[in-house]
Amino acid sequence: MYLLKSIIFLAVSLMLSHQTFADKMPEFQFHSKDLPKSGDIVIIATSSDLIGKSAEIDKFVNNQISIALSKHEFSGDFGNALIFNAISPFHKVTIIGAGTEELNKRKLHDLGGHIASKSEGNTVVIAEDLNTNVLAAGAHIAKGFALKNYKFEKYKYKADSSKNDLKTLPIIMHVNEPDKSDQNYHNDLVHVVEGTYLARDLGTEPGNIIYPDTFIERVLPKFSNVQNIKIHIMKEDEIRREGMGVLLGTARGSIHDARMLIIEYNGAEKEKAPLALVGKGITFDTGGITLKQNSGMWYMKSDLSGAAAVAGTLLASSKRGENINIVGLMPLSENMPAADAIRPGDVLTSMGGKTIEIGSTDAEGRLQLADAVQYAQKYFNPYMLLDIATLTGSASSAMGSDYGAVLTRDWDLSMRMMKIGKNSGEDVWPLPLNEGHFEQIKSNIADIVSTAGRPGASIGAAVIGTFVDENLPWVHLDIAGVDWRDSPTPTTPKGHAGWGVRFMNELIREEANKLE
Ligand code: BES
Ligand code: ZN
Ligand code: MN
Repeated sequence: MYLLKSIIFLAVSLMLSHQTFADKMPEFQFHSKDLPKSGDIVIIATSSDLIGKSAEIDKFVNNQISIALSKHEFSGDFGNALIFNAISPFHKVTIIGAGTEELNKRKLHDLGGHIASKSEGNTVVIAEDLNTNVLAAGAHIAKGFALKNYKFEKYKYKADSSKNDLKTLPIIMHVNEPDKSDQNYHNDLVHVVEGTYLARDLGTEPGNIIYPDTFIERVLPKFSNVQNIKIHIMKEDEIRREGMGVLLGTARGSIHDARMLIIEYNGAEKEKAPLALVGKGITFDTGGITLKQNSGMWYMKSDLSGAAAVAGTLLASSKRGENINIVGLMPLSENMPAADAIRPGDVLTSMGGKTIEIGSTDAEGRLQLADAVQYAQKYFNPYMLLDIATLTGSASSAMGSDYGAVLTRDWDLSMRMMKIGKNSGEDVWPLPLNEGHFEQIKSNIADIVSTAGRPGASIGAAVIGTFVDENLPWVHLDIAGVDWRDSPTPTTPKGHAGWGVRFMNELIREEANKLE
């Protein structure tokens, strides 16, 4: 029996070990000695006058670099790039502008992203003496580089290896105080990148591959060696026993049962109340009986972006060993039309007994969240609750692709979230939520209706807010516009952004500092 169990365990581990990242993360080494004398180099410059180590390299090549720069009237503006292939003995010299403004963390990430998009191999980056007060600036450049370098090519018969080769070798970063950057990157920032990669993987995978069970199968092995983690998987019978009828409703038309994945991280004293993060996890959203139109429906494979960001955030903050307690709740289901799917007009009973009349079966995310936020409050008693969801096209139309929408009952909290967004590189902007929105969702036959009037992001938030204690600080993030990018940014390639991992990590850093 023992042998059998061991064999099964081994087989399962082997299967899971194949589910690594869609693309390997780049590796970095931080140095301050031994300037490169060949190969590919990247020089960061503010003008054609080179400073510090870059000037030494320029001297080594008889001023060929500065001569080339002044010939091209290189301005040094932030993100500007010039590439020279004929400055011997180097194979390739890439110059990237850093501008003259002081570089904050966000700018350093962007700079790293610009380097990643211009270099393609075993690169040595000369990044000393930058205009910055950020400690371990090199680590932040590396973070930006790694965030930008993500690729998802597992379904290509033969991935384009010519592009990938050099990035499998470590990137050497010449920086001031390399040990500090090395520590900061490898003990901290790399985990935020890893969490973002996980979220992007989950959001990019198609609906035939990721459904509630496989979402969980993907996430679990990431936590197998992580300290202070507790995982609970709720299956249908337990969800039913808890009376979570609206979460169950969202899965009724699907061949895949609903699940809820709960990951607890205990990085602070046991008695301390946790921060609760709740993420919408619709593994595919057809709209259900209120079927969506076909154009662009494929993209609803990423309707689990909220849950993916929660998983990535838990991974990052637990691996960073942050001094805080967090609980992540990920309700998971697939919204499908079928003979037994929920209908518009149906009334479902949520966990605490409140009833919801279904306005549109396409407003399914708020149903998942209505039960999940109640479960979070009943069993974890959080001191603050944040939910994150690709909830409404309305948020996407209002915000565009550069700002997530933030909705709270408390203006100061919204302002605080804007600041966190700005620092993290994932911006948010407030939308209103007031009594009027709660008025509008009163139902004739049930306690509330899931859609009303011309339903937008605020109505969605009011439905969720109905189930959040008024005295509990609560943040709702509607990320429908930001989770997927049609055009890249300096730190995010085109496609799934893994939006939220950076934002929530920044929030967690702040919260942990408050506790100290
Ligand atoms: N997952 C969608 C929201 C969405 C739309 C995300 C576009 C990303 C891009 C959500 O479940 C939905 O269908 N919302 C409806 C709500 C409506 C029926 C009240 C919407 O926004 O149209
Ligand atoms: Zn949806
Ligand atoms: Mn929907």
